[in-house]
This record gives sequence, structure tokens and C-alpha cells, in this order.
Amino acid sequence: NRVALIMAGGSGTRFWPLSTNEKPKQFLDLVSEKTMIKETVDRILKLIPSENIFISTNINYLEIVKKELPQIPVRNIIFEPMARDTAACIGYASQIIDKIMGNSIMAVLPSDHLIEKEDEFLKSLEFAFEAAKEDRIITLGIRPSYPETGYGYIEYVKKNKSCEKKDGLCIYKVKRFREKPNKELAEKYIEQGNFLWNSGIFVWKTKFILSEIKKHMDSHKSVLENIEKLLEKVDLKEFHGEKLSSYVRDEFKNFEKISIDFGVMEHTKSVSVIPVNIGWNDVGSFKSLGDIFSKDDKGNVVKSEKFEKIDSEGNIIINKENDKMIATIGLENIVIVNTKDALLVCHKDKSQEIKKILDKIEKNK
Ligand code: GDD
Ligand code: MG
Repeated sequence: NRVALIMAGGSGTRFWPLSTNEKPKQFLDLVSEKTMIKETVDRILKLIPSENIFISTNINYLEIVKKELPQIPVRNIIFEPMARDTAACIGYASQIIDKIMGNSIMAVLPSDHLIEKEDEFLKSLEFAFEAAKEDRIITLGIRPSYPETGYGYIEYVKKNKSCEKKDGLCIYKVKRFREKPNKELAEKYIEQGNFLWNSGIFVWKTKFILSEIKKHMDSHKSVLENIEKLLEKVDLKEFHGEKLSSYVRDEFKNFEKISIDFGVMEHTKSVSVIPVNIGWNDVGSFKSLGDIFSKDDKGNVVKSEKFEKIDSEGNIIINKENDKMIATIGLENIVIVNTKDALLVCHKDKSQEIKKILDKIEKNK
């Protein structure tokens, strides 16, 4: 039994003013005409039928998810009463899926990434589903290109002996997982060569990941056991959505806020990785749009109907007001984002500080 769980409860602020808490990155059409979450669902629909696709998100996004994803059965949308990060998300969703579908092989997918090579992605996932028939965690690893500190790093045993092959893909035993290392460590990992980035895509059996969470995360274990008792009293085929969310609320809030990467991946011994080449980009900031979109003759990314420039290079211009002209003179490596509500002008290398300015705006409101 194969299922997919799409995690869509994150509250990205790095794309402000395009994204807001009401409408985070997964609900934006950042890289195509479709929203990122719709792209994710359409991609996985080529491998998994809609009855087996589950969405896990925050109750605040109820309306937007239902509207965006009409093809997903409503009982497959799991609404968390509050944000408790990905360990709680995966644990709770695994319980629900396991109850509805029985022990299933489950692919966990982030909802806000770009995957350019769809065929390669589907082929890699197919291999991962096969490999996850055993009790183990399968991750898809990305060859790193610079010492990014916002990702997880996977150290693997690079011996051919330890590699199971299929379709030109290989699966290796993971020695160690390190989530979001500091700059010095990240640089060392890149130099060492036997490290991959964690794509955030995992495949495992629902029962196996539940036992791993319980094994490595004491406080999650007790919350999950209490929720299990609550779930036993209801029929999940009838009882879902807002009702289920408020039913588990008082227990769910006891989940510690911690990611699956820190909670399980850093501690477990049962991980294998498939190095993949799927055209992956986690679209982490405005700057990353420069690696994704084609540029004009001066290396500017321009998403504006009306734009004129003199001596302007390497800028990123996003305009959501089609009537408005944007013009730049002598500007380099600047991000300009114009929406109905706000105008952001920011240096490309400072776009990770958008969160700080948002905090300031909130404080002075
Ligand atoms: N349902 C639900 N509930 N989803 C959540 C929650 C939550 O509380 N928190 C985050 N998510 C979703 C996000 O919407 C996103 O799709 C996914 O889970 C991953 O969360 P992020 O917050 O974006 O994680 P990250 O980018 O810091 O790190 C992860 O991804 C990197 C690759 O992009 C880690 O897995 C890293 O190891 C990895 O390298
Ligand atoms: Mg992310």
C-alpha cells in the first residue's frame, strides 16, 4: 500500500511581501503559473492515486487548501490545531494514515520545492518505495554545491560494495545525519565529499517511522500514545477536518516544537540514501529565483510587464501591479518586490533578513 504525505503547514516569511502568515510560500505561484503545493500534488499524482495522497497543514489554511486542491478527498486533509513542526506533523499524520489505510509505505514530501526533472524524480521515488519495504528510512540526497547552513547534511558510506543498484540509481547506508550545521562544519562537509544535502523527501513505513519517533523522542512518545487513545474512539472515515482538529487540540498542543530532522534523523541508525539528480531547488529566498528563472541581457530576473533600465545588473524585479512601471538606474544586485500592500527594496545578499524587518513592522503597527 503506497501513500504520499505532503507537508504544508510551514509559515514562511522569507518571501514577504509576496508571502504572509496567511499565505505562506507553498500557496504562492512562485515558479510557475500554479501554486507550489499544486505543483507538488500534480507531480505525485503520476505515481500515487488521489485517494492515497494526504495533506498535512495548519487549521488556519483550511479554506485555502480545500480551494487549491479540489482533487484531494477531504478526509485526506489533516488539519493540525497548532504549528508544532515536522516531527509532530509526521507522527500524527502517520497515526491517522495507518488507521485509515493500514501499515503503508509512505513518501513524505515538502510542499514548497521546485523539482525540474519530473521523470528522474518519479524514477527515484519508485526506487525509494521498493527500498522502504524493509524497516528503514530512505532519503533522497542532493549533491551539494556550496556550504548552505539551512539544510541537513547526510554523510554516507561511499563504497560500491554497500550500494544496491537499480535504473542507474544507487542506495547507500547513511553514517550520520547533521541538521543545519554552522558555516565551518558545512564547509568541512563539502570539502570531505561524502556528504549530500537532505532534500527533505523521505520514504518509510508508517509503523516504522512511528516506532522510530517513539524510540528517539520521549515526549513525543507520550503525546502520540495519548492521541492514539483519542483516535481509537472515533471513525476517521467520518470524523475529520475541523472536528478532528479541535478534538485532539488539548493533547496536540503538548507536542514539543521540533523537526523530524533534529528529533529522529540525527539519532537513528536506520537510514539509507539515494543520491538523486532531480533538478531540486528549495526556493529558499528571493536570491534563489536568480538560479531558477531566465535573465535579461544584464542578468536581471524581471517579472514585471512594464520595466525599463539603465546600467542595471543582476537585480530581481517582481511586480504584482501590472499597470505600474518599474524603472531602475545604476542598480546592482537589488531585489525589488512591488505588491498592492507593500514595496520591498533589499540587497540580494540580505534577503534572509526579511524576517527581521517584518518583526519591526509588526512591533510598530
Ligand atoms: N503540516 C505541517 N506542520 N507542515 C510543516 C510544519 C508543521 O508544523 N512545519 C513545517 N512544515 C512543512 C513546510 O511547509 C515544508 O513543506 C516542510 O514541512 C519542511 O519544513 P521547513 O520549515 O521548510 O524545513 P527546512 O527547510 O527548515 O528544513 C528541511 O528541509 C531542508 C530542505 O529544504 C529539513 O528537512 C532539512 O534537513 C532539509 O535540508
Ligand atoms: Mg524549507
